[in-house]
Amino acid sequence: MKILTVVGARPQFVKAYPVSRRLRRDHEEVLVHTGQHYDEALSDVFFDELGIPEPDHHLGVGSGPHGEQTAAMIAGIEDRLADEDPDLVLCYGDTNSTLAAGIVASKTEIPLAHVEAGLRSDDRGMPEEVNRVLTDHAADCLLAPGEAAAENLRAEGITDGVFVTGDVMYDAVLLVRDRAATRSTMLADLGVAAGEYVLATVHRAHNTDDPDRLAGILDALAAVDDEVVFPAHPRTTDAMREYGLYEDAAEELTLVDPAGYVDFVALVADARAVATDSGGVQKEAFFLDTPCVTLRDTTEWTETVEAGWNVLVGSDPDRIREALTGAFDLPADRPQPYGEGDAASAVTTALESVAP
Ligand code: UD1
Ligand code: UDP
Repeated sequence: MKILTVVGARPQFVKAYPVSRRLRRDHEEVLVHTGQHYDEALSDVFFDELGIPEPDHHLGVGSGPHGEQTAAMIAGIEDRLADEDPDLVLCYGDTNSTLAAGIVASKTEIPLAHVEAGLRSDDRGMPEEVNRVLTDHAADCLLAPGEAAAENLRAEGITDGVFVTGDVMYDAVLLVRDRAATRSTMLADLGVAAGEYVLATVHRAHNTDDPDRLAGILDALAAVDDEVVFPAHPRTTDAMREYGLYEDAAEELTLVDPAGYVDFVALVADARAVATDSGGVQKEAFFLDTPCVTLRDTTEWTETVEAGWNVLVGSDPDRIREALTGAFDLPADRPQPYGEGDAASAVTTALESVAP
């Protein structure tokens, strides 16, 4: 089988890592990188560290308004699809790169497979929610990370082509966890001790694009007793600079460049708690037994909240500070709603049944 995979943003490199590795044992994969993320720290580092094969096609789309960026991706993917004529198109997650792949593939005879199908935050104000819903409704093969995601699809009338595979990000965490524990020097480099810092990431448009909201989040993090390690997405660094928040943040927090995946997993694993508005980071905290405080009002990873390992506090500074202060009341056990860490194999088997 020849699979054309579309990636473009940081979370997709992490998700493609275990799947690509497994698929290439038995199948041909052509990798298209849209260029949505292009900084070394947001793109190349993942390919280098994780041994992801170099993209066969790099569209070089870069940043821009949603329509302009997605349109450029659509045009580029359409050309490559015509040239490569694969048996299947594979896309991941909920970014504009995902949607672009979905739009192109849905207008061809080539089946479209979507990893992370069925996730819903029920917040249509988020571009990611729109991307997820539209891609699911364009897809022929819907690879759901858990039963709740499959149920969300059923509720929207999608029952054909749904496979519950487990979550490929669990595979990714398991693949690098030992390497992170033994080889990452991140904690030593930053001078922080395991269990004595909070790891924070913020990059959602809702939080970065409103000066008052971003200032409130930064103030709340600065008020936490523990050291706060904050690998900042360039979008967030730019916003801090634009709103005049950067100098104070750099003084009060341990602001660092975006970390590579191995260092990042080490940071999550050893943090006392994680504070984030990321989708992937909520799950990584869950997989690595680190309590998570989510700086959003909704989440698509609802099982982590139901399990008692994740709490939604929105962007209210008091709630953020309160949640990060004092001990966490954690349940004795952690359920496994996202499978056993063998999702890449399940994805491969599902794809083989769709386009043998
Ligand atoms: C995108 C995804 C989001 C995902 C995130 C992962 C969409 C709509 N959003 O958000 O779902 O959680 O990636 O990190 O697809 N920039 C750089 N260097 C880069 C890339 C971006 O400086 O390599 C800056 C640019 O100023 C750009 C801004 O970040 O305008 C936003 O980038 P963009 O890819 O549009 O969205 P993200 O916020 O990264
Ligand atoms: N990540 C990383 N370094 C960082 C921040 C994030 O390696 O400094 C990884 C992490 O594994 C995370 C993934 O990149 O799950 C995607 O992160 P991001 O928060 O950007 O995207 P989202 O999951 O919210 O779409």
